[in-house]
Amino acid sequence: WLFAVSLVIGAYLVGSIPFAVVFSKLFGLADPRSYGSGNPGATNVLRSGNKAAALLTLVGDAAKGWFAVWFASGLASNPITLSCVTLAVFLGHLYPLFLGFKGGKGVATAFGVLIAVQPVMALLTAAAWLGTAVFFRYSSLAAIVSAFLAPLIYIVAGQYFWKATLPMSLALSAMGLLLLYRHRANITRLLQGTEPRLGAKKTSK
Ligand code: G3P
Repeated sequence: WLFAVSLVIGAYLVGSIPFAVVFSKLFGLADPRSYGSGNPGATNVLRSGNKAAALLTLVGDAAKGWFAVWFASGLASNPITLSCVTLAVFLGHLYPLFLGFKGGKGVATAFGVLIAVQPVMALLTAAAWLGTAVFFRYSSLAAIVSAFLAPLIYIVAGQYFWKATLPMSLALSAMGLLLLYRHRANITRLLQGTEPRLGAKKTSK
């Protein structure tokens, strides 16, 4: 179990790497926590106007989620360990050690995790995210829709096309709930009609 605990701690630390802050610094941009929604994530980095930095943030945050679960899957097959690793990397992004426990909302990292857990589920969820984002032009709304869909797809389609385990079903459901919780300010803004559309620039917090 010591090995399993090390994997979980390692996943938390990997999840703690704040790519939004790292890439903003590398590109000489302002810290994403100082403008827009104040969220250290790809959507907010895009508000700086630098598409490359936003794309790299998206890729980096997704890659760390994918890497942690993929790496652990190669070393441990116990579904409980894998579901704990899944939650740990996600929680690392939300509450990162390296940013005083004030992290992002977890969309990109959750997507990376889904790729490692079940690529078909990840693809279907990404399609739903993209469809919502293109049609409504709200990144947050797309994330909210995906938060419901991913665990649902994993559990329902898992009865027929893959073996959905109970620990992973619980981990993905918890991830969806945490994702909704982290979007509470966005939900209020969406209801008030004040949520900025995807790609709209904003410089002051
Ligand atoms: O990826 C986070 C996104 O869903 C919302 O980000 O900056 O608009 O709060 P933001």
